[in-house]
Amino acid sequence: MTSASQRVFSGVQPTGNLHLGNYLGAIKRFVELQEGYDCIYCVVDMHAITVWQDPVELKKSIREVAAAFLAAGVDGSKQIVFNQSQVPQHAELAWVLNCVARLGWLNRMTQFKEKAGKDRENASVGLYAYPNLMAADILVYRATHVPVGEDQKQHLELARDIAQKFNNDFATSIAANGLPEKFFPQPQPLIAGPATRVMSLRDGAKKMSKSDPSDASRINLTDSADQIANKIRRAKTDPLPLPESLDGLKERPEADNLIGIYAALADTDAQGVIDEFGGGQFSQFKQALVDLTVAKLGPINAEMTRLVADPGHIDRVLGDGAARAEAIAAETMTAVKDIVGFVRR
Ligand code: TYM
Repeated sequence: MTSASQRVFSGVQPTGNLHLGNYLGAIKRFVELQEGYDCIYCVVDMHAITVWQDPVELKKSIREVAAAFLAAGVDGSKQIVFNQSQVPQHAELAWVLNCVARLGWLNRMTQFKEKAGKDRENASVGLYAYPNLMAADILVYRATHVPVGEDQKQHLELARDIAQKFNNDFATSIAANGLPEKFFPQPQPLIAGPATRVMSLRDGAKKMSKSDPSDASRINLTDSADQIANKIRRAKTDPLPLPESLDGLKERPEADNLIGIYAALADTDAQGVIDEFGGGQFSQFKQALVDLTVAKLGPINAEMTRLVADPGHIDRVLGDGAARAEAIAAETMTAVKDIVGFVRR
């Protein structure tokens, strides 16, 4: 295990069904990274309420995301698994960062533009300030590495800018308090592998997403083997056989997507998949993809079902994780209060 100066943090929103994109872009990587790092994995319930959530469903979703982390292989006794609202320092630091980040920076966030849509006046203030809370999530642990899918890249860049501006704005005070010059480290995004942006099964130009009205567009972690098989068989492709080289994937977004999914599930890369299936028919490849997906997701699904049936156990994991997380976060907040110039108890 590396020292705490190398710390991984990431979060997943408890907003409806987790899908294959969340698994390949994030959760599968969470499991891989726990071999080399101290990891903190958070169910970001405070982010979820930036759009209205049914309170009963929200509680269920929080436990379901925690169950997905554990079922996929995150070790809740070694790593920290918790839900954000149990650690008040996220909100506390977010306020300070609201005062560091600039309006112009937030105005550039494409995710806000997409989510708020045309009715921007009616979006919550929380949805707008969301990236500052995300920066607080990471910086309150002074995390150095953040595994995410491609869609979070811009938010990570913002977190880096906020960290740097805080360090610059308060440089004198940081030094006066005997703290390291780079009080907040620059968090590195970890966006790598063949499935950093899993696309919709119905449209290779659209990201696989929880909010797509078509359930056929995504594979949910809770889908049965039959549902997985049907969705993959119906997945959009083009009439050509599979390409024989990587170059042949250009302008073929659906083929590229299915090959990426296969590569990620099989722990290989697109070239490896082309070596095996290049020149073949999609019907044959799709059958292999069904078998592989069911083999990989089936046990996770079964374990999630088992875990969700025992909410008491999940709540204990979350509570224990929150206590350990808070111990780290409280230390950062004490320093932040001194740096900013607040009088403390
Ligand atoms: P969220 O909940 O939308 O997604 C969770 C993770 O899944 C990744 N992801 C994908 N990866 C590949 N292909 C896709 N189609 C796909 N869809 C989603 C996301 O990139 C993410 O890694 N703002 C974050 C949650 C968050 C966070 C944080 C992450 C809050 N605070 C601090 C890292 C660090 C979000 O909404 O993810």
